[in-house]
Amino acid sequence: MAKVVGGLGTSHVPSIGAAVDHGKTQEPYWKPVFDGMLPAKAWIEQVKPDVCIIVYNDHASRFALDLIPTFALGVGESFAPHDEGYGPRPVPTVEGHPEFAWHLAERLIQDDFDLTLVHEMTVDHGLTVPLSIAFGQPEAWPCRVIPLCVNMIQYPQPSGKRCYQLGRAIRRAIDSYPGDLRVAIFGTGGLSHQLQGERAGLINREYDQRWLDRFITEPAEVAKISAVELMRETGSEGIECTMWLVMRGALDDTVDVVHRFYHVPASNTAYGLLVLENSADTGAEQHRGAEAEALG
Ligand code: DHB
Ligand code: FE
Repeated sequence: MAKVVGGLGTSHVPSIGAAVDHGKTQEPYWKPVFDGMLPAKAWIEQVKPDVCIIVYNDHASRFALDLIPTFALGVGESFAPHDEGYGPRPVPTVEGHPEFAWHLAERLIQDDFDLTLVHEMTVDHGLTVPLSIAFGQPEAWPCRVIPLCVNMIQYPQPSGKRCYQLGRAIRRAIDSYPGDLRVAIFGTGGLSHQLQGERAGLINREYDQRWLDRFITEPAEVAKISAVELMRETGSEGIECTMWLVMRGALDDTVDVVHRFYHVPASNTAYGLLVLENSADTGAEQHRGAEAEALG
């Protein structure tokens, strides 16, 4: 049976990808950010997911005003990096998992989530930067990836409540998959940032920290926060954190924090990173570790 091994939330700032691609991760500006990612990298190396469901938003790359799916699930064989103006990032093409993706499609649509199913699409920094954060610069990504693209850039965006409920439904779908799969789920985007207009550069540390606290312990309450509040408090692009709720919904109510990191600034964004495991699993791991120690 498939199993959720944990969730990872991360901002997807494009210049983090550029720092990786151009060998700048150890420069003074970036080193603290990349140092803060190390425990998340170690975690994913240890839990070894077979597949990552990556919840991200496209930034008028593959989709634009002519076509705006609210929720688009990638069911294709592979997804190449999008050319966002400087040529596609020099990162591996993402290999999908059509069989598992079709299972998700079937279960979610029959669970009343009217997804758009996408066979062919390129993926932008919203998806490739989180992969670089988790896995560095491998020749090929070490797991399959199922892209789940959420409209976060064009009004009207889906609500936090809808995203949280979608996460819940994704968990039910994962739990009902007969294949033996280890599944990680990423929520990407945020935290506070505004890229244009009078308030460009807005960062709200206090709000972000409080949001993270509550995201961990009372996600159903955080899911009630309106888009207007998020944009007022965290900037127009701060709304992207809504996608983290899909990840949180796919986890148990009670989770353990494996890693939490927050750093300002990363480009124009407050960089946030969170790794969560279901408490039931962390307990089991600790128990197994203690048993192994006792057995010498
Ligand atoms: C930045 C952050 C984003 O989430 C994004 O999509 C584009 C740019 C930034 O901080 O530069
Ligand atoms: Fe973004």
